[in-house]
Amino acid sequence: MTIASVLNLVRPNVAAMTPYSSARDEFTSDAKIFLDANENPYNWAFNRYPDPYQKKLKEAICEWRGVDTQHIFIGNGSDEIIDLLIRAFCEPKVDNILTVRPSYGMYKVSADINEVQIKYHDLDEKFGLDIDSLLACADTQTKILFLCSPNNPSGNCISIENLSYICQSFNGLVVVDEAYIDFASTPSMLSKLKEFSNLIILQTLSKAMGAAGIRLGVAFMHTEIVAILNKIKPPYNVNSATQEIAIDIISDRENIEGQIQQIKAERTSLFQFLGTLNFVEEVFPSEANFILVRVKDVFKFYDFLLSQGIVARNRDKEFRCQGCIRFTIGTPEENEQLKQSLLLFQQQN
Ligand SMILES: Cc1ncc(COP(=O)(O)O)c(C=O)c1O
Repeated sequence: MTIASVLNLVRPNVAAMTPYSSARDEFTSDAKIFLDANENPYNWAFNRYPDPYQKKLKEAICEWRGVDTQHIFIGNGSDEIIDLLIRAFCEPKVDNILTVRPSYGMYKVSADINEVQIKYHDLDEKFGLDIDSLLACADTQTKILFLCSPNNPSGNCISIENLSYICQSFNGLVVVDEAYIDFASTPSMLSKLKEFSNLIILQTLSKAMGAAGIRLGVAFMHTEIVAILNKIKPPYNVNSATQEIAIDIISDRENIEGQIQQIKAERTSLFQFLGTLNFVEEVFPSEANFILVRVKDVFKFYDFLLSQGIVARNRDKEFRCQGCIRFTIGTPEENEQLKQSLLLFQQQN
């Protein structure tokens, strides 16, 4: 798609509206005295509004991911960006979004909040994707396709080749949610950003980067789509503390690289261990920091783990996930305790 045809997908009211102009939008030079935003004048770390466009943080992200700052949009978690995309492009009760089942639950929640219909393509028993039948689910009102790679809760990835084919073939935005990409051996779609104007890549500091508490989601996209989202976002959607902490984390990420390697090694070890247990029916290979497992009596098993002080995510009610439970990979000590509890459950059942 050309960027002109992508911009044709924007809701007419959004295209026509004038955004709120914040005090900090209206000057660019350095000032000494700030009497423009009705703040308390007594300076400490947080008496001023944050930079609405997070310039310094975007520079740090540019240095980290190798993507120019003008292609970066930052949200209060990727959940905010999912919601903003639907609000910018989908007319309530008219347009729809498309995704796969099972996948991350917030695509549906955001669609529901905005009265936008959600269509599903069903993954197969092994959570594989049939691309042509996925594309056949779209109609002329399908504005956004959300795909999660590695997928939550299954943990598998979609290849760059397949995602590129989808970007080429789909007449709308393709949002690739890469929340777990740092744990994957499948490469990111970032290298394809310049090739496809309709591609949006979501990443987050909540997973590998170890900062779920600061709420920081990052999206990479064509600069004209960044401009649309800037128009509709709350002016100060990313607070100063978050911006500062995020810069520190990104600039000092060596420590985190070590954690990621450790988590991946622990994932391999837990995967192998789970395969040896007689109440485990299936272990799904994962490129994320979690493993989905099908067990014999998932409710009894879940309650047993709770009685051991271990909380996992029961996914039994999710499409194609009957009997499944999802374990996040913990520290080596936590994983060892989990293994002991799994052995105890096996002995008792
Ligand atoms: C696939 C996926 N995308 C996005 C998120 C949310 O990210 P954030 O914490 O940045 O809102 C999650 C969290 O579980 C997730 O699994």
